[in-house]
Amino acid sequence: MHEMGIKGKGLKTPNNQKEDKIRSNLRNEEQKIIMQVENLSKTYYQGKIPVHALRCACITVRKGELLAIMGPSGSGKSTLLALIGTLEKATDGKIILDGTDLTSVPEKLLPRVRREKIGFIFQHYNLIPTLSALENVELSMRFSRMPKKERVERAAALLEELGLGGRLSHKPSELSGGEQQRVSIARALANKPAVILADEPTGEVDSKTRDSIVRVFKELSEKGQTILVVTHDPEVAKECSRILRITDGVIKDN
Ligand SMILES: Nc1ncnc2c1ncn2[C@@H]1O[C@H](COP(=O)(O)OP(=O)(O)OP(=O)(O)O)[C@@H](O)[C@H]1O
Ligand SMILES: [Mg+2]
Repeated sequence: MHEMGIKGKGLKTPNNQKEDKIRSNLRNEEQKIIMQVENLSKTYYQGKIPVHALRCACITVRKGELLAIMGPSGSGKSTLLALIGTLEKATDGKIILDGTDLTSVPEKLLPRVRREKIGFIFQHYNLIPTLSALENVELSMRFSRMPKKERVERAAALLEELGLGGRLSHKPSELSGGEQQRVSIARALANKPAVILADEPTGEVDSKTRDSIVRVFKELSEKGQTILVVTHDPEVAKECSRILRITDGVIKDN
């Protein structure tokens, strides 16, 4: 009896050990820091007058977080995304994304880093009007080493996952706003980015479509996709795992 008690409590069976290892791996995966923003600043100049769009921002983002960025107009939200997206150069500070310091990548390598590590989603979708949904998604993989057949298959699979299996050959003008935004989500996911940056992705759609886009973001985040979403909409923010608030270029994390 006594021995069994000890066995039950103290000693672990091989199966128990295996389960513990899997749990600990999952925990580590959940807690993995995917992005570290350190003392990031951006000053624009209007003639000689400095505009401090972002002041000394520090942010830690874990893999799979769905992070809302909120703040008044002109507070620096798009500036923050433009810096993380390497579309603008920081005045000061660092951005470490998935082990790469984005602020020290040589200019000529930036397009590749951007393509491989970052997915963009815009308010106005920015799809190419002459291309079909499938071609818009496939295009974003053209620079990868993937053969054409695989690119087309991946594009179709992503669009199907997003509920657009019946819309592959539709042009953007033949799609609703919500459908176009889902095409742009598929495009953002195509190269398996470390982070997706979405600037007001639900700014143009009705509340039902907004809810379906938020649902897609939540599902992606549950599968481990990290997403930063700039939004003015409290209904979007309340579904996110965390909210960063910016005022006059200063970030408050809560
Ligand atoms: N290229 C630029 N040159 C000069 N000033 C700029 C430039 N881009 C942005 N700014 C200024 O930087 C500040 C932050 O702008 P930003 O676009 O980041 O705001 P935002 O929070 O995204 O606002 P909105 O909610 O209206 O989109 C603003 O004062 C803006 O006027
Ligand atoms: Mg903006």
